[in-house]
Amino acid sequence: MTTRVSFTEALGLRATWMLPAIAGATLAVVAPAWATDADKGRTIARLWCAACHLVEPGQTTAKVDAPPFATIATTRSAADLRAFLANPYPRMPNMSLSRDEIDDLVGYITALGD
Ligand code: HEC
Repeated sequence: MTTRVSFTEALGLRATWMLPAIAGATLAVVAPAWATDADKGRTIARLWCAACHLVEPGQTTAKVDAPPFATIATTRSAADLRAFLANPYPRMPNMSLSRDEIDDLVGYITALGD
């Protein structure tokens, strides 16, 4: 984790007792950068998937009885999801998702299972 080293060095904090605090702070700093794709995925999910799927914890109703994304997160691997979304599926509209959109969605959905 080079990020952690440079982060602590940047602050000039080296005392061992500070490490847990630094680790926490580092996560907080690193997470937004990592979460960018999942954020885009959430936006796509709200736009294109929320009519039929429950795509996030706050959503309580969907029009169709499709599996909630939180369930999909625990039953499908990332590779599985990628394959599913890359191919048209009879009960879902063909959304012709780009590779980037698929990656973002897969990042978002799998994060729901963490
Ligand atoms: C028009 C309604 C509709 C829309 C819009 C829709 N879905 Fe679905 N989706 C379904 C239905 C219905 C199923 C269940 C199909 C089945 O079980 O045969 C499903 C199943 C899935 C599954 C497989 C779940 C599983 O594990 O069996 C995934 C993954 C999925 N959808 C992702 C998405 C994503 C991502 C979007 C948005 C980009 C989306 N869906 C938009 C209706 C929809």
